[in-house]
Amino acid sequence: MRIDIVSIVPEILHSPFSNSIIKRAMNQGLIDIHVHDLRKYGLGKRKNVDDYPYGGGSGMVIRIEPVYRCFSKLISERNYDEKIFMTPDGKLFSQKYAKDLINKKNIIILCGRYKGIDQRIRDHLISKEISIGNYILSGGELAAAVVVESIVRLLPGVIKNQDSIMTDSFQIESVIAPPIYTRPLIYKGWSVPKILLSGHHQKIQNWLEKKSKEFQQKSDD
Ligand code: ADE
Repeated sequence: MRIDIVSIVPEILHSPFSNSIIKRAMNQGLIDIHVHDLRKYGLGKRKNVDDYPYGGGSGMVIRIEPVYRCFSKLISERNYDEKIFMTPDGKLFSQKYAKDLINKKNIIILCGRYKGIDQRIRDHLISKEISIGNYILSGGELAAAVVVESIVRLLPGVIKNQDSIMTDSFQIESVIAPPIYTRPLIYKGWSVPKILLSGHHQKIQNWLEKKSKEFQQKSDD
């Protein structure tokens, strides 16, 4: 799978992709991530990418030409299954959404900044709009990193222990993972629940299911 991310602040995306699971997945050739600086496709000597909104109002708007040029270059090199725009008014991202995206071969993710992007980009160049939550970030970069990480860890071969993925919260739709503990047994008087040490597989399983339901209840409240 290949993911091309287009941004006017590509530096934000360097760190999330140069560590841990994503870096290993890239080194193993399981995922190919490319970050593109939209300014390279900007207008004039100063490589402008934004302008004032028609009709007035505060804030700057990302122009269509740099995005069109960047997308055209990418599309001339390969076919893209999706061209995604990160935006707080997009469809809310979920584990189910991540699972749908792992079936794609190539995707572009466009990150917004400033007041927004020219609507014609959304109307003509974008196939999906994704929000990672009902709050406003200064740009789509961190949201894109969230989406990419959630996709990459689902790709076959990226995480060795597939059991671990299957018991993650949300992997099984709308089920929250139960609490987990490791050593020490007691820390500052806070103890691991005794049931987990009982060796009774069925009892432990029932307890975990009960706890998982309690967590679910709490997150619904
Ligand atoms: N850009 C700004 N806020 C965002 C959000 N909540 N989700 C996706 N992209 C965004």
